[in-house]
Order: sequence, then structure tokens, then C-alpha cells
Amino acid sequence: MNDEQTGAPRKRIKVAIDGPAGAGKSTLAKRVADKLNYLYIDTGAMYRAATWVALEQRADLNDHNRVIELVRHAIIELKAPDESSQGRVRVIVNGADVSFIVRSRIITKFVSAVSAIAGVRKILVEKQQKLAKEGGVVMDGRDIGTVVLADAELKIFLTASAEVRAERRLKDMREMGQMQDLQTIIADIKERDHLDSTRETSPMKQADDAILIDTDNYSLDQVTDKVLELCVSKIAE
Ligand code: DC
Repeated sequence: MNDEQTGAPRKRIKVAIDGPAGAGKSTLAKRVADKLNYLYIDTGAMYRAATWVALEQRADLNDHNRVIELVRHAIIELKAPDESSQGRVRVIVNGADVSFIVRSRIITKFVSAVSAIAGVRKILVEKQQKLAKEGGVVMDGRDIGTVVLADAELKIFLTASAEVRAERRLKDMREMGQMQDLQTIIADIKERDHLDSTRETSPMKQADDAILIDTDNYSLDQVTDKVLELCVSKIAE
């Protein structure tokens, strides 16, 4: 797309969205990417796919070398959502569609352990950086602004209280036909926050130059408008 005034090709920026589980990152990132006609990359889905590979092969998650080898040889692809994936990015591993299972409670339970393995992160971070090389991407995760796209033109750190995030997750799970009680989800979210922010390699952390957005008191529409506004001004810079 060209700039309306100068006719020069419009800059295609990199947008990094980080934050804890359930803050609304993926919905926000998808909407922003759609509006700008950018590629949306859900890095959490890649760690979930890696976890699925390890569990499917019955690997001992403490055997890091074995997990790393399995992830190195797995072909992990992300595809645009369709009706079968209920609006979420489709996850294909070695040709098999694992979109549904990677978002199940069992994968959620073990994903923090797999994503804490430095060798696994190295493989996936390289993949993510390759995908974002040309710009025109919105990427969400935990270490995008600090590590993967440290050079991103726009960095957002999206957060919300554990209670609000748990309510949203409960709604998502109900829509997917999965049943769980709110207290269990709050406990799971708090545990995952703790594991993700205290791990040694690339812990979840707000980048110094990221803009903090607390979504407790804002609707997703309001947050999307705000982030799109920020994108437009970065593109125009
Ligand atoms: O965003 P999500 O819940 O699908 O992410 C799943 C897990 O993957 C999360 O517990 C932390 C990990 N993760 C990570 O370590 N780094 C990323 N860039 C994205 C996710």
C-alpha cells in the first residue's frame, strides 16, 4: 500500500504485544492485524505445539535434550483461523491439525515447563524472527518486545487483574464446550503468571519502551481503537 500524499510505499511496522495469559492479547493482535492487513503471529500457539509434540512422544519433560530434539524436528505451522478453529489461529504439527488439543487444559498445564527450556525457546524465537523479517506483523507473546522483536516500532504490554482474566477464560472455555470452575481458573492463571515471570530464560516482562494498557476498565473495542491509533502514528513517523 502506498502513502496517499507522497505515493511512497507505506511503512510496514512490527507490533509487539506482550502480557499475561488471558489479558486479551490474541483477540487484540488479530483485530489489529486484520485492520492493517498484517500477518498475525500467535507465539503462544507455537509453545503449545512444542508441548503437544513432547507429550505425544511421551518425552520426560525434565529430559531437555530429548524435548529440544523433538521440537527441532517438528514442522510447526500456523494458519489463518477458520470456522473449525472458532476464530483462533490453526496449529498444524507434522501435517496434523492440533488446534483444539493445544488449547486444552493438559497442554496449558505443561506449557510453562516446556517454554522454560532455553533450547526450545532458541528454536522458536528463530522461527518467529524469520516470520517477522519483512515487517507488517503483529506478534503476541511474553518476550516479544524484550527479545524476539526488540526493534519493534510499537510495543504494548497488555494486562488485567487475574480475576478479570479468569472470567474471560471461563467464557472462552464455555464456548469451546469445556467446563471448569472460576476458582480453579484463577489459581491456574496465578500459577502460570508466576512460572512465566520468574523463569530464567526470557521471563515475561514489560519492555522499557512498551506502553502499558490495563484492560480491566476498557472494552476490547476501546483497546483496539487505541492500539490502531498508535499504529497509525508510528506508520506516519
Ligand atoms: O499465550 P498462551 O497462553 O497461548 O501461551 C502459552 C504459554 O507459552 C504461556 O504459559 C507462556 C508461553 N509463552 C512464552 O513463554 N513465550 C511466548 N512468546 C509466548 C508464550
